[in-house]
Amino acid sequence: MQGLARRGIGLLAATTRGVRSTLSLSPLPRSSAGREASTLGGEAAARKVVTVTKLLPDDAASLADELLYEDVTTSLEQDSTVAEKGEARDEAFQGETHLWQATKLVIFFQEDRSEEDILAMLSSAAATCGADFHKGDVEVADYEDTTYVNWKEAVADSFKPIVIDCDGKSIRVVPLDSDGEVAHVRPDENEDDVLDIFIQPCFAFGTGEHQTTAMCLRWLRGNQDILRATELPIVDYGAGSGILSIGALALGAGSVIATDIEEDAILAVKTNAERNGISESRLVPALIAHQDVLHGSVDAIGATDVLVANILLTPLLELEQTFARLVRPGGRVVLSGILRTQVPKIRARYSEHFEAFEEDGQDEWALLTAVRRQPN
Ligand SMILES: C[S@@+](CC[C@H](N)C(=O)[O-])C[C@H]1O[C@@H](n2cnc3c(N)ncnc32)[C@H](O)[C@@H]1O
Repeated sequence: MQGLARRGIGLLAATTRGVRSTLSLSPLPRSSAGREASTLGGEAAARKVVTVTKLLPDDAASLADELLYEDVTTSLEQDSTVAEKGEARDEAFQGETHLWQATKLVIFFQEDRSEEDILAMLSSAAATCGADFHKGDVEVADYEDTTYVNWKEAVADSFKPIVIDCDGKSIRVVPLDSDGEVAHVRPDENEDDVLDIFIQPCFAFGTGEHQTTAMCLRWLRGNQDILRATELPIVDYGAGSGILSIGALALGAGSVIATDIEEDAILAVKTNAERNGISESRLVPALIAHQDVLHGSVDAIGATDVLVANILLTPLLELEQTFARLVRPGGRVVLSGILRTQVPKIRARYSEHFEAFEEDGQDEWALLTAVRRQPN
């Protein structure tokens, strides 16, 4: 993820206050053990709050991006200090001392982690993305002892309605608070051609804010005829908050199977289905294990004409055979969570069973669709 923040993937401007849910994209669950409570309608589940101060804005954004791979939620805030950088990044200013308005990165951990563990994780993330931080500027506290007791409200507060334009038609993702009420200005219900999806902020990814989610939603909106025509459930593979499942159903799909490897995601899918008035028979969540799926021992997912998977490169590469088994000839895979530069790798792997590739892109992110070939 090196440099992505600098190229604009940072979901928040470094100097504005905001909180974001992270992508939880590893092919295997990393840290779900020991969770007791979810944030969905329950008590706040954060156990540790880590504050890293005096960061350069770029470094803070890069670190936050890198932490997308961890099971944490991050917030970028303006620091009250200035960060001094002896050597400017920009070659034109090498050797000069620069003062920056510093940024504070706040990281919410759902489980109790040791300080040593947290510092090791930060160091590794910083090394990967080339960010600098000083161990002396890291403060680890128990959630109960911090000023972030209104953490859930902060999350809801930073999650504003998002409008995704789909060729003149729009999908609007409307955030709900923990009571299921519209968190911000109630959208105008009479607006033409606007499809509202209600999402409650939670530990599962999928608010519509990320380019990959937006591209998947756009694809669903542009392919309503396919969604309407199929009698098989759509498969939302790596459902996160369930945003794509809900979108597919609202756009004409009869039913969806929403799979994920994270329990939080399954809970989020259930909650968000309820919030959107979708019955259990139309949106079926399925907790799966990546390895079981690879070995073909998962009955929860059956044949489909459309499989949408917004996950990362590595699991997508690993899952080609599985997806080839699930998607009927003539059916489609809609793949995202990959960078444009990674598309050739996916195409090469998926060419074994798929054809008619089409690529879409937003910023550095890509969406790739392909049609399941007839078996030889
Ligand atoms: C980027 S989020 C996408 C969420 C939502 N579908 C969206 O488009 O916003 C990826 C989701 O895939 C799940 N995931 C990651 N690896 C997976 C795997 N191997 N099998 C199933 N789900 C996986 C993660 O837990 C996460 O919820």
